[in-house]
Amino acid sequence: MSKDVIIGFLGCGNVGSGAWRLLEGFGADIEHRAGLRFVIRKVLVRDLQKPRDIAFPAGVLTDNPDDVLNDPEIQIVAEFLGGEEPSYTLMRRALNAGKTVVTANKVAFALHWHELQKAAKRNGAGLYYEAAVCGAIPIIHSLEESLQANRIDKIFGIVNGTTNYILTRMSKNAEDYATVLRDAQRLGLAEPDPAADVEGLDAAYKLSILASLAFHGRVPFEDVYVEGITHVSAEDIRCGQELGYTLKLLAIAKRNGLNVETRVHPTFVRSDHPLANVSGSFNAVYLHGHACKEMMFLGRGAGDMPTASAIVSDLERAASSCMHRYPTFENEVNPKVSLRNNTDWQCPFYIRMLAKDEPGVLSRVAKCFADEQVSIAAVQQKGDCHNGRVTLVVITHRAGEKAMQRAITALDGDIATLESMIRVEEE
Ligand SMILES: NC(=O)c1ccc[n+]([C@@H]2O[C@H](COP(=O)([O-])OP(=O)(O)OC[C@H]3O[C@@H](n4cnc5c(N)ncnc54)[C@H](OP(=O)(O)O)[C@@H]3O)[C@@H](O)[C@H]2O)c1
Repeated sequence: MSKDVIIGFLGCGNVGSGAWRLLEGFGADIEHRAGLRFVIRKVLVRDLQKPRDIAFPAGVLTDNPDDVLNDPEIQIVAEFLGGEEPSYTLMRRALNAGKTVVTANKVAFALHWHELQKAAKRNGAGLYYEAAVCGAIPIIHSLEESLQANRIDKIFGIVNGTTNYILTRMSKNAEDYATVLRDAQRLGLAEPDPAADVEGLDAAYKLSILASLAFHGRVPFEDVYVEGITHVSAEDIRCGQELGYTLKLLAIAKRNGLNVETRVHPTFVRSDHPLANVSGSFNAVYLHGHACKEMMFLGRGAGDMPTASAIVSDLERAASSCMHRYPTFENEVNPKVSLRNNTDWQCPFYIRMLAKDEPGVLSRVAKCFADEQVSIAAVQQKGDCHNGRVTLVVITHRAGEKAMQRAITALDGDIATLESMIRVEEE
């Protein structure tokens, strides 16, 4: 005999429609396999007049959140509204009413995880968020369950499909940023307002969630250093390729003792690194644990059906769980274990400069670097002299972020001006 599980949706745009269709088309398989029959009782939307692809049964659509949150029979609330508010308030209300929450919302979740988890625990409700990070890739469940026997010291990856699509096109076809962005918007791969993606914020929300789970310590979103791809040039991509590098927007988290660094920025990876070949809108997460060693997850990080795959799996897990589990965080349980946010990370750097074409310039540039203990691994002069200046590309050995910034600031503009600085991930 199957058990009916009554659910309510908050939102039914791309993701909600995907979840509706997946439950509609695959519900019988789930019922056969797990003995659960999902019944979507109410769906909250903003605009009841909006034309929709789904023919909702009469009475299902509503624009009043109370119809979902005050219905005593709704056991699980699935949230796909997006943004911080009203999502956070509505999820908290659902949890306080003892309803389990499944969400795809990295913004509200990353910013309010602590409060949401407190409300869930207090009310014996579940809180599931696989779809909030990397769409269909089961990275949350893997970190929460399958990799518990590991001390993970680094986790990094490509967690935003829009920027990976843009950088892949720029790398393969030597196209410029603005042209590819316009195309991505036309193809529906970038939002009309692309800021959250191209400025790296979307990746930073996801990184704060991933790092917290991987390191068993809360890593607040505010601690993540964020730099997007808006200033990336086709010239840097080409120069990097000539040196054996591929440019990616990486979300990087590392833990060493109580020191944690979390950063999102354009990064050169060696072109033979597994992440270098993750193309288009795919996502990938690479990690290292002391027992599992290196591991990479690859898959679709967005889109209605890939995201629905994570949501429906969470719904099934939530409905079949006898006792919901919640991750624990060392720095929450024991205030003495306070993680330190390390903003002076070490890595090699790629520096492109326009330098005066005359003897002695190179040694003056090298002196600025040496004064800050930044040691140069390779220097290349690119192209011909224009207006008395040539392009110089420098790759450094591992150096401190702050020392590198000081060395650049000390450059005398009369002899060399900085065009770009890109961090290199060598691990
Ligand atoms: N799109 C993806 O591929 C993807 C992948 C992973 C995670 N996510 C996350 O999933 C969430 C939803 O994304 P989406 O692409 O499905 O967004 P979307 O297409 O914009 O859909 C948002 C839905 O929420 C409703 N809504 C928004 N604000 C509301 C309000 N104040 N009151 C009532 N209803 C409201 C909208 O109503 P109307 O239909 O009336 O406009 C719409 O149904 C976001 O958190 C996003 O980050 C998306």
